[in-house]
Amino acid sequence: MILYREDDYNAMSLRAASIIARELKSNPALTMCLATGETPEQTYRILGNMCKAGDANFSKAATFNLDEYVGLDYGANSYRTYMKNLLFDHVNIRPENTHIPRGNSPDTALECLRYDRLLDSCQSRDILLTGIGMNGHIGFNEPCSALDGRTHIARLSQGTRKANARFFDSIDQVPELAITMGFSDIFHFAKIVLIANGRKKAPIIRELVNSQKITTQNPSLLLKLHRDVTVIIDKEAAELL
Ligand code: PGA
Repeated sequence: MILYREDDYNAMSLRAASIIARELKSNPALTMCLATGETPEQTYRILGNMCKAGDANFSKAATFNLDEYVGLDYGANSYRTYMKNLLFDHVNIRPENTHIPRGNSPDTALECLRYDRLLDSCQSRDILLTGIGMNGHIGFNEPCSALDGRTHIARLSQGTRKANARFFDSIDQVPELAITMGFSDIFHFAKIVLIANGRKKAPIIRELVNSQKITTQNPSLLLKLHRDVTVIIDKEAAELL
């Protein structure tokens, strides 16, 4: 695990965006897995600017997202809308190459299988960008006694719903279920970049960096089993190291 401690949120985002731009340059048909949430927002803005400046070319790239809420219409805080607003509208990616679980599918179990099949059809899976939940979740793989390997319906913990309530009018509006990629597919990506900023992430970053044990009660610890993980944090997230 390589650890970069950056001065602030912008420097963290710049490092993450630069890694993605570098990978895109060496492999224009890059297959990426992307995350949502507050943490990657600036990374996406920087990638949008790089694309406008001719420093990043998404024309042959493909993306998969880690997760999507169940039951939200597009336009209402869905991750499809988030990705469109923050990245897809600002880079030259082909819309048909962007994949996000359809959380509004009438048959979410079938949707999980569809997503698995799409993932299985990838020639390569190159780089995965993720944040980290305060409870160590990756995507919506929440702490539990046993993790599902493949795409599945996840029940959001109360803590996660509370943390995500800031994007909604109230916690009651935060969906209880989401579709998430599982660790089996997360591990298929050759390179994983985890970003975290802010004091509230300091305890979980301390656990991720220092823990010698691996438990599904903190899913982020599974990343210790992957051979190419880069963790990029700002000063505040590094405060307890
Ligand atoms: P955040 O969420 O980026 O909004 O902090 C991260 C996560 O829950 O994975």
